[in-house]
Amino acid sequence: MIKKCLFPAAGYGTRFLPATKAMPKEMLPILTKPLIQYGVEEAVEAGIHNMAIITGRGKRAIEDHFDISYELEHQIKGSSKEPLLTEIRNLITKCTFSYTRQIEMKGLGDAILKGGILIGQEPFAVVLADDLCINQEGEGVLDQMVKLYEKYKCSIVAIMEVPEDKTYKYGVIDGKEIEEGVYMVSNMVEKPEPKDAPTNLAIIGRYILTPDIFEVIQKTKPGKNGELQITDALMNLAQKGMVLAYKFQGQRFDCGSVEGYVEATNYLYNIEGGDK
Ligand code: UTP
Repeated sequence: MIKKCLFPAAGYGTRFLPATKAMPKEMLPILTKPLIQYGVEEAVEAGIHNMAIITGRGKRAIEDHFDISYELEHQIKGSSKEPLLTEIRNLITKCTFSYTRQIEMKGLGDAILKGGILIGQEPFAVVLADDLCINQEGEGVLDQMVKLYEKYKCSIVAIMEVPEDKTYKYGVIDGKEIEEGVYMVSNMVEKPEPKDAPTNLAIIGRYILTPDIFEVIQKTKPGKNGELQITDALMNLAQKGMVLAYKFQGQRFDCGSVEGYVEATNYLYNIEGGDK
């Protein structure tokens, strides 16, 4: 069973400067909820209640968000505003939140490695909160992946088809389809130019990882931009036939980019409306 979810949230979010100069990208709101709260809710829907968050300098607002604000609660108690805090209060009651810092931003692989101390020797989920995943039709993306893990018991990456000229933005997989939408990964390339991309199946920010990944990351050499890439570490496991890629049901918005962020905002505004 997957009991813990890791949220690497230490990146600088430079695409959102100056908004992210003193505020974490993960706290940017889509309507009235910060991105990371959507991620935590997705994890809870998948039956996970222990959140492990990798933060860095200037990210303290994340810890404050998942804590009680006595002054504020006292101020709005009994008013029409009180219900606005119900969802977050439920999360705080239901879940545990633990934190560790990534001191130098040396890539997603390094951030996940830093999470080892919070995860221990058990399989775990990873959510990149700036990838907002919504499935209006049914189960959340992480829930779908946890169920797949129960069947195959190996590492799983979520994938989606992207236009062929956009492969340079993603990790891209190659592999054999073993059941509908599920691939046994044979190759993975980080941000390939379209001519070097084995497919147009791109990895997005949802993973289930087995704990052997920590040792593999430790042995992995820095890749593109001198950063420790999780794709390079996963490639090592894939060579042993231990990584699946899963074409999830639902929609993913790249909220780390201004375009994806606006798209997600419009999408949810049309579903949920504005002021409640
Ligand atoms: P991104 O590359 O999308 O995030 O990393 P970034 O570096 O913050 O964004 P830009 O490109 O400068 O705008 C994907 C995820 O991995 C985390 C980020 O916080 C984000 O959730 N990450 C990335 C870390 O935690 N540590 C790192 O060293 C790098």
